[in-house]
Formats: sequence, C-alpha cells, structure tokens
Amino acid sequence: MAQHRITLLPGDGIGPEIMAVAVKVLKTVGQKFELAFEFQEALIGGAAIDATGEPLPAETLAKCKDSDAVLLAAIGGYKWDTLPRHLRPETGLLGLRAGLGLFANLRPAIILPQLIDASSLKRDVVEGVDIMVVRELTGGIYFGQPRGVFTTEMGEKRGVNTMAYTESEIDRIGRVAFETAQKRGKKLCSVDKANVLEVSQLWRDRITALAADYPDVALSHLYVDNAAMQLVRAPKQFDTIVTSNLFGDILSDAAAMLTGSIGMLPSASLGTSGAGVYEPVHGSAPDIAGQDRANPLAQVLSAAMMLRYTLHQPEAARHIEQAVLKVLDQGYRTGDIMAEGNTLIGCEAMGNVLISALSQE
Ligand code: NAD
Ligand code: IPM
Ligand code: MN
Repeated sequence: MAQHRITLLPGDGIGPEIMAVAVKVLKTVGQKFELAFEFQEALIGGAAIDATGEPLPAETLAKCKDSDAVLLAAIGGYKWDTLPRHLRPETGLLGLRAGLGLFANLRPAIILPQLIDASSLKRDVVEGVDIMVVRELTGGIYFGQPRGVFTTEMGEKRGVNTMAYTESEIDRIGRVAFETAQKRGKKLCSVDKANVLEVSQLWRDRITALAADYPDVALSHLYVDNAAMQLVRAPKQFDTIVTSNLFGDILSDAAAMLTGSIGMLPSASLGTSGAGVYEPVHGSAPDIAGQDRANPLAQVLSAAMMLRYTLHQPEAARHIEQAVLKVLDQGYRTGDIMAEGNTLIGCEAMGNVLISALSQE
C-alpha cells in the first residue's frame, strides 16, 4: 500500500474546525480506497506566532518539504493584525508559498446546481458557470522590491510596493494556464492593466507570444477593471483566466461569489516539483470562528484536489466530490449557503453527514 505523507496546517480562526472535518473525510476515503495516509501537523500563522514567536517556523517549512502534499486551512486574525509585517500570519503564508516554489495557484469556481439559489446573482447568469482562475503566486506586487515605509526628504512617510515580473516568471505561469485551458474549454483570457502599467504590457506581450505554441487555445485579453465587471455581468463567457498575484487574489474572491459562497472554493498551489499546498480560497473568518458555523466544504474539496493532482487518486477524489453533492441534495447547509427549505447545520454536523454519505456508497 502506497504511503502518502501529508502535512496538516490548521492555522487560525475557523482553520482547526474545518481541518478536523477534512481529516475525518480523508480517513474515511483512505479506508475505502486502501490509501495509507501519514498525517503530521505543523504550526503556521497566528498559532505559530503564539507558540514560537514566528509565523513560519523553520520546522514547519522542513516538514512541508518532506511531505507528499500539504493541506492548509487558513491563517490570520484580529489578534495579530497590529504586529510588524515580518511577524504577521500572512507573511508566514507567503513564506510557505515562496519556500515551496508554488508559483501556480489554481482556483476553480464552479456553480453546483444545488446552490444556484445561494448565489447573489440571477439563475440564468450563473447556471453552468465553470471557471478556472490561474493566479501567479510567488511574484508581482506581493514580492517585488523595493517595499517598505520610507521617510522622504521632507520628513513625510511614504509607503512603497513594487509590481514586477520577469519574462521567465510570466512564461512559466502562462504555460500552466495554456495547458490548463487545453484540458478544459480551450479558451484563455489573460487579465492585466496594460493600458497603464509597464509590467502588464510585458505580461501581455509574453502571453501573446506564448500563444503560438498553443494554436488550439483561443486567447483573449481584458483589463482587470473590465474583467471584474464581466465576471459579474456575464461569467459564462470565461473558461480559463490567467492573471498576476494581486489581480488573481481579487478576481478569485469575486468568482467565488458566483458559486454561492466563498466557503465552497478550494484551491491548489503548485510548483514544478515537490509538495503542493491545498487550501480553501477563503480566510480564517474570525467573525464566525469558534462558533461551529463555518462551511467546511472548501476545505474538503481542497482535500479532493490534493488526491487528484498530487496523490493521483482520481477515484477517491471523485468519491469525496460525490459525497459533497449528496449532502447538498439532502438539503444540508451551513449558514453561508442557506436558502429556503434547507436544513441549517453546523461545521461539525456537516462533517458527520459527509461521513455517512461517504460510507453509504
Ligand atoms: P475571510 O475569507 O476570512 O472572510 C470573509 C467573509 O467570508 C467573512 O464574513 C467570513 O465569515 C466568510 N467566510 C469565509 N470563509 C467561510 C466559511 N468557510 N464558511 C462560512 N463563511 C465563511 O476574509 P477576511 O475577513 O478578509 O480575512 C480574515 C483573515 O483571514 C485575515 O487575517 C486575512 O489576512 C486572512 N486570510 C487568510 C487567507 C488564507 O489563509 N489563505 C485567505 C484570505 C484571508
Ligand atoms: C489568499 C489570501 C492571501 C493572499 C493572504 C492571506 C496573504 O488572501 O490566499 O487569497 O492574498 O494571497
Ligand atoms: Mn485572497
């Protein structure tokens, strides 16, 4: 039996609550499909700051590097919001992405028929939406230099961040996006701000040049402001979207709402080799943490993505996805996806109904 070593990073806020559900789900499918998981937990974010004084302890990065895949829940919270930048939970997450070389972040936004009424948009606008946002994850304004708060000659403070991309950084994410589009609807929309930013002009030029290698993919370009509008106006025009770190962060939250709730969206962060990190698109939801109200499905679907992409267990992944559809068919909903006629349940109870759905089939 193949042994899969998985590092679990529950993190902060609702993180431990949704992680507990995902682990139960993995153990159940593990038994059914005879997969041997070896779970090891590690600290990240606020939990790591409290225990060790730093948001990404060296031991955590080492454990992640030494595993087949990493399942992360979420980091952050009010308690750590006033710490200096290098000590913030978010810096730990960025360090993890950079440390593992995870330049490609795949964020699928699919509307499930069961959740159409949970979307804030009209049925005919969202029915059939199936978008893949390919977000560049280790470059752009998140990592560009110089950065910091400096003092001008006049003694005034000046905050600086730099949006920068090299050609090779654009090319490698571009290739992932074209290859992703090839496996999907063969349509790729590249989103930038080339009308204003030089870095975006380079982005557009490189993506356009790459298109020659993928003649079967129809490439289009949109400015990010228009793309945000189009995502809400007519989301079905999109198949695969490729964009930079910051634009991808913003557009993927917008895409999330098409599907009913950000509590439904999984993601995969991948590099050229080594462990991928699988995590929900949402954050630690401090406003509902500790209340058993979180939707664990984005976390559970992230575990399914992990089984499919890194552990090459498509049947086990599908089994989890089927169980999610089944509990939704049965009418079970957490508060964020609740609609009339459904049964409102908490995070832990959602885990329990998932386990019975998984065990029945
Ligand atoms: P958030 O995604 O945590 O929450 C936004 C809203 O969505 C909140 O009202 C929250 O209750 C709701 N929500 C999110 N996930 C949910 C779920 N699974 N079930 C039900 N409702 C859910 O974003 P925020 O409030 O802007 O950020 C909170 C903290 O999380 C910050 O510290 C931020 O830096 C961090 N954050 C972390 C990640 C990550 O770990 N990848 C991602 C985004 C934000
Ligand atoms: C996300 C989050 C992170 C990001 C933060 C917490 C660093 O918003 O994963 O989408 O901006 O990438
Ligand atoms: Mn985000």
